[in-house]
Amino acid sequence: MMNGDMCIKPEKGINAMKYVEDMNAISRRNAVKLFGLWGLAALIAEGKASVCEPQADRQRKKILVAYYSYSGNTAKIADYIAEMSEAAVFEIVPLVPYANDYDAVVSQARNEIGKGYKPRLKMEVKGIEEYDVVFVGSPCWWATMAPPVSTFLSESRFSGKMIVPFMTHEGSGLGRYVDDVRRLCPDARVLDGRAFRGRSVGAAKDEVESWLSELSFNG
Ligand SMILES: Cc1cc2nc3c(=O)[nH]c(=O)nc-3n(C[C@H](O)[C@H](O)[C@H](O)COP(=O)(O)O)c2cc1C
Repeated sequence: MMNGDMCIKPEKGINAMKYVEDMNAISRRNAVKLFGLWGLAALIAEGKASVCEPQADRQRKKILVAYYSYSGNTAKIADYIAEMSEAAVFEIVPLVPYANDYDAVVSQARNEIGKGYKPRLKMEVKGIEEYDVVFVGSPCWWATMAPPVSTFLSESRFSGKMIVPFMTHEGSGLGRYVDDVRRLCPDARVLDGRAFRGRSVGAAKDEVESWLSELSFNG
């Protein structure tokens, strides 16, 4: 979904699932570990958008979907959102990619998140000032956003924009994600967001559609 430093506006009816399938190969390898480890973390309720979320005036909004995805789940939700809301897409890519070794990434992520480390990104988003609404997607890492997403939120200007957080997870729901987005982007209007089960993203299209229609962002 990446194209140099450009944002891509996907054509309707075309999706970029090849990339997602490649990334899901990593996801499948780690699925057993994920379900065992993070199922225990399900004490935190799965995140649901508030029914009181404000309705947006779709006619006048320009939408960007920005996301980071380690193993393809968040990318899939980003694809659905972009296709249904006719949004542009920006993939957040760390300059130094995370290793394929799941255990190594879990421990690296704990370390980075604990220190508030913000890794450098491969490219910055261009022309963000053009967008009124930015959907920001992350996998749940240690109950918050993955570090590349915190770099993205810290380095871009969101003043006056609406941010719609979304997350994929295996038990923690949104965790601290939305609070952390609000902390990093105090001048933006940050909606309550939505969490999706990583293992079920393949069947989440309807859920995404009804969420976008609650928000009035469905094309
Ligand atoms: C480093 C790391 C930390 C994770 N921490 C959590 C967590 O705290 N809670 C949770 O529910 N899932 C956790 N997971 C599982 C991922 O959030 C979940 O598999 C997600 O759907 C992956 O999205 P992606 O395929 O876009 O990377 C973690 C996964 C990784 C790799």
